[in-house]
Amino acid sequence: MLLKNNIDSIKTLIKSENVLTDREERYCYAQDSTNTREKHSLPDAVVFVETIEDVQKVLKFANTCKIPVISRGAGTNMVGACVPKNGGIILNFSKMNKILDFNPVNMTVKVQPGVVLGDLREFVESKGLFYPPDPSNLRVSTIGGSIAQSSGGPMSFKYGTTKDYILSLTVVLADGTLMKVGAGTIKDAVGYHLNQLIVGSEGTLAVVVEAELKLIPKPEASRVVLAYFDTMEEAISGVNNIIASRVFPATIDFMDNNSITTVEKFYPCGLLTDKEAMLLVEIDGFESSMQTQQERVEKALKEAGASNIVVASTDEEKKSVWTARRSSFAATAKLAPDVLSDDIIVPRTNLAKMVRGAKDICDKYGLPVCMVGHVGDGNIHPQIALNLENDEEFKNYISAKSEMYELAVSLGGTISAEHGVGSEKISYFEKTVDTEAVSYMRGIKKLFDPNNILNPGKIFEM
Ligand code: MLT
Ligand code: ZN
Repeated sequence: MLLKNNIDSIKTLIKSENVLTDREERYCYAQDSTNTREKHSLPDAVVFVETIEDVQKVLKFANTCKIPVISRGAGTNMVGACVPKNGGIILNFSKMNKILDFNPVNMTVKVQPGVVLGDLREFVESKGLFYPPDPSNLRVSTIGGSIAQSSGGPMSFKYGTTKDYILSLTVVLADGTLMKVGAGTIKDAVGYHLNQLIVGSEGTLAVVVEAELKLIPKPEASRVVLAYFDTMEEAISGVNNIIASRVFPATIDFMDNNSITTVEKFYPCGLLTDKEAMLLVEIDGFESSMQTQQERVEKALKEAGASNIVVASTDEEKKSVWTARRSSFAATAKLAPDVLSDDIIVPRTNLAKMVRGAKDICDKYGLPVCMVGHVGDGNIHPQIALNLENDEEFKNYISAKSEMYELAVSLGGTISAEHGVGSEKISYFEKTVDTEAVSYMRGIKKLFDPNNILNPGKIFEM
């Protein structure tokens, strides 16, 4: 709890209209997109930063007074990563939302953290370039949040995640010092890659205030091959067949029957609801390669047992199928008061066991689950609809969740691929990560943030 004189001090550092302290104003910053039974704590103040100097001033002050500082973009996080555990100051980046520089020859763009991902993508696409990371919420989520979690999305299969597009970061350290990490060049073999350490660190090591990103040429053409299967296992063998065919699609995404029927119920778009699973395979590249890629993918899918194949090739058709897939979380949320979207990854060779196992575990506990995922990566999102206020359902959910994580780890996988650990998976973190590695992580945290003011209580306890 911040003292009144602390709040008064912040108001002398930052324009007072940029400091929110009314309870009603702070209330929504105690939530993000994570449904939890445990209510998060209210921040003591929300500060809208406008400049790097604003961030430096707040951190210097907070570090001296040992006040927690939690950076926040659009609040779309699903593991409680951008909400306070125990009060403190929220740094709101929505006013630092400029594209600062664009260089088409170097294929780079420099941005402030509050830039919305969808806007960034549109901007670079209008110049014939492409920024691939595409989390489902990209219409609202920001690049700062994306860097904090190293977000992925369907296109990670071919193009990687946020970490693969970071050329340099300008960050403010816990004590207010400014630091630039990464040379900004396409290659950089000079010293430790601190930028890669900060990407995905969930705001626990430093606060990102500028990022220089790598871009790639925008693929000339794309098509989405939708394939329906009578069993989940056939769909997964479809994934393996595509990989064996040596076509490299931009996405190999998945929806199970519950997810298809739930989406179709709330956002009708013509998906076939009598099939157990569907793959969304987007091929991209030169227009002249489309037909060959499509034929190879269709052959691979048919050999795996695909019973229906539909190809979306116009912009409108492609938009419609991706809107359906991206609506899965919102549609599942209509089934019950709460929905929790999990995030598990295993090596592809064990994917069929993971998908079936996760479904069986949820069925055993009577939990409705809509399964989607980026199966090309081995990554699935069991989206569980329930009422967290119901003790029985909550208990079942906790048991199902830990069984799914145990299964993932036993299959050579891990407990998050792209959503992060936040506070939601903290109790599973040390069971999953090598003990020696955990102790190095603690050492790194201590070095960056000796007073533990940066997003405390996330990833692991200090
Ligand atoms: C997705 O792939 O749709 C996102 O990661 C969000 C979710 O898990 O629901
Ligand atoms: Zn995802």
